Amino acid sequence: MERTFIAIKPDGVQRGLISEIISRFERKGFKLVAIKIVVPSKEFAQKHYHDLKDRPFFNGLCEFLSSAPVVAMVWEGEGVIKYGRKLIGATDPQKSEPGTIRGDLAVVVGRNIIHGSDGPETAKDEINLWFKREELMAAKPLTSEAIALTEKKMDMS
Ligand code: GTP
Ligand code: MG
Repeated sequence: MERTFIAIKPDGVQRGLISEIISRFERKGFKLVAIKIVVPSKEFAQKHYHDLKDRPFFNGLCEFLSSAPVVAMVWEGEGVIKYGRKLIGATDPQKSEPGTIRGDLAVVVGRNIIHGSDGPETAKDEINLWFKREELMAAKPLTSEAIALTEKKMDMS
């Protein structure tokens, strides 16, 4: 099953948005298969954002990512890489739609509170960079019995 790497950046953690962000992914139906809170070193941040090394904001971005705790996660589900990016919204919160995480909760591009892998290759690389194999849980697939039970409960309420 498809997996993506999602990180709540230091600004998201400091602003108390961990549960808000996690709940948006959970409510959508994606499964959390790994989570930890870490302060990455600057070298680690540079590895994570290596594709941006020639951009003028690269140093500030890596300084910031390594300045305070980050919540690193792996989420699993059908289409989670692309749809995760949709939940997150555009890079610049001024251009993110309302209803997205950045659109609802952030204002400026340098403090856009969350990271999400941008494709299958980066998802694989970022999961391998941030997590050891044994840190990844196996998500239980949503069985047809579980779906039927959920629908039954909803009918009753
Ligand atoms: P991530 O999910 O964090 O990778 O963001 P993204 O994929 O939407 O954007 P991108 O990978 O191009 O940029 C990575 C991060 O660099 C962004 O999330 C921003 O925090 C930061 N960034 C991107 N563009 C700018 C910019 O023009 N100025 C500044 N200050 N920061 C930028
Ligand atoms: Mg990116």
